[in-house]
Amino acid sequence: MPTDQQEIIEEIKRLKAERNAIILVHNYQPAEIQDIADILGDSLELARAAATMDGEVIVFCGVDFMAETAAILSPRKPVLLPAGDSCCPMADMITAENLQKAKKDHPGAAVVCYVNSSAEVKAESDICCTSSNAVKVVNALDEDEILFVPDRNLGRYCQRFTKKKVIPWDGYCYVHDRITPAQVLAAKRAHPNAIVLVHPECRPEVIDLADYAVSTSGMIQEVCSSKTDDFIIGTETGILYRLKKDCPKKQCYPLAESAFCRDMKKTSLAMVRDSLVTLTPRIVVPDEIAARARCAIERMLALP
Ligand code: 13P
Ligand code: SF4
Repeated sequence: MPTDQQEIIEEIKRLKAERNAIILVHNYQPAEIQDIADILGDSLELARAAATMDGEVIVFCGVDFMAETAAILSPRKPVLLPAGDSCCPMADMITAENLQKAKKDHPGAAVVCYVNSSAEVKAESDICCTSSNAVKVVNALDEDEILFVPDRNLGRYCQRFTKKKVIPWDGYCYVHDRITPAQVLAAKRAHPNAIVLVHPECRPEVIDLADYAVSTSGMIQEVCSSKTDDFIIGTETGILYRLKKDCPKKQCYPLAESAFCRDMKKTSLAMVRDSLVTLTPRIVVPDEIAARARCAIERMLALP
């Protein structure tokens, strides 16, 4: 590791102790950011950590909706997003106004909102979900009709496991939606003994060819606990670094080298250091929106 990088890491450690800060990091973040994490995880694990962990400052290395969720759950703590302009294009595929209109069109439906969404959209929703609990959330509701926003692929994935009618919004993650069945077939030909793991943000025809569709941390658990040695990993390639560290004896091959989320890769060590010095960029959610969004998030977190 270059000396200047090592020096920044030492500065981060010192500032973290001074500020009594915790660093939450998503599984897609760059390797050097994963290495400074207090908690490295998927969206659900990070939301739970934001709600329950001690510490006076939260440094969120991920994208804006994740930091917003943390700010909603810990309203009294500064929540910092070092790469302040990192966002999720899928979250921008629905607005609160669009959702209000859709609710009028489907008056009996419950609104299940994937956490990859703005605080305003969460505030209009009955309950949130992540990729690791979406099916459980849908099946836990009393309503027979579910307006599922904003990810059409996760919504369609839920439809496989419920008798309810799931009405998916037409949003998608560009990283996962562009993975093709042809890529799965080519990867299987190259690694015929491998188990294929894909993220449920992938298209249905890609999920059809996979062995399992799981969240990012679900993939780590599957690879580490399986007796199989070889895996094809159908998600953002940042996760391969964690897989190599957590399961060094296993072989993990990316399903698509092109599965790269630009926003997840914006964080740098210098940005983390600077955010701890200046306590910016800080994510603040207006109280009125936060209060309504919190109901939807906490309802999800309360599920067993
Ligand atoms: P999970 O880590 O919750 O599976 O989410 C994937 C993702 O795309 C986050 O932006
Ligand atoms: Fe959004 Fe997809 Fe990037 Fe996740 S990987 S932040 S869903 S664009």
